[in-house]
Amino acid sequence: MTGSISAGSVSPGSGSPGPADPGEQIFADTIARDQRVEPRDWMPDGYRQTLIRQIAQHAHSEIIGMQPEGEWITRAPTLRRKAILLAKVQDEAGHGLYLYSAAETLGADRGDLTRRLIEGRQKYSSIFNYPTLSFADVGVIGWLVDGAAICNQVPLCRSSYGPYARAMIRICKEESFHQRQGYELLMTMMGGTETQRDMVQDAVNRWWWPSLMMFGPPDGDSPNSARSMAWKIKRHSNDELRQRFVDMTVPQADALGVTLPDPALRWNADREHYDFGQPDWAELKQVISGDGPLNRQRIARRKQADSDGAWVREAAAAHAAKHRSGS
Ligand SMILES: [Fe+2]
Ligand SMILES: [Fe+2]
Repeated sequence: MTGSISAGSVSPGSGSPGPADPGEQIFADTIARDQRVEPRDWMPDGYRQTLIRQIAQHAHSEIIGMQPEGEWITRAPTLRRKAILLAKVQDEAGHGLYLYSAAETLGADRGDLTRRLIEGRQKYSSIFNYPTLSFADVGVIGWLVDGAAICNQVPLCRSSYGPYARAMIRICKEESFHQRQGYELLMTMMGGTETQRDMVQDAVNRWWWPSLMMFGPPDGDSPNSARSMAWKIKRHSNDELRQRFVDMTVPQADALGVTLPDPALRWNADREHYDFGQPDWAELKQVISGDGPLNRQRIARRKQADSDGAWVREAAAAHAAKHRSGS
């Protein structure tokens, strides 16, 4: 459902209109009625820029997120595990492509977004700056990291911007598969040898806190959240989503037979939620500012992939130009 704003009534990004501007009123009504804003509709410049930033960060996260698990494709223990992991990592590439396309509907240029990523001017999820030390990490990433991504992303299927919301519907279906395959791998390992169970517990110990950080800083320290919620780009606060993730994950950890590394974790009957400890927010700030365990390596690898692929882009552009000129 669109806001049915006639295209061209107000040119997109034409600065702030006066209060009498019909586009502004229609935009406000569209948001109030829970309808979708579409690419040719008038939208405030801040809304457009916020979305470009959020969608680009999300796209970058999908693409950089291929690296930690991609490193295990050649070392997967069986053909079956290799096929599953390969499919998952390819899905993440697909998620990146849908999202870069969604950003392009807002007027962003994909090449420019890639440049911003590799020059460190745009961010991606902090979680992908941690190393994957054993094959159990593949399972734990599927279970916890894709699980956290699902909590974050399911509400985005109702985001006010149409192309983003529609991309999220398909992405969420695939993320659910990722979470299930991760959990199934861990279940298998937990039914194996003591060494395998230890590998799983060790991976859980390392990934639990970074997974909680994926929801961003606490609400009181998240300056852009309120505006994104007013525009219905975002539907729930960071802390609400983090609580939802903890509540969902604790029974899964019990079923798996692993211990979540948080002594403060316990059921609170009054709140009907789990209480839990605070992640190390200083660590999150450090990782976000580019100084996590593997930030440099992740960006260097992305830069290398970008320059390795330059000839393909040049060939495609030359081919398209040749067709345009009809020769
Ligand atoms: Fe993804
Ligand atoms: Fe995923």
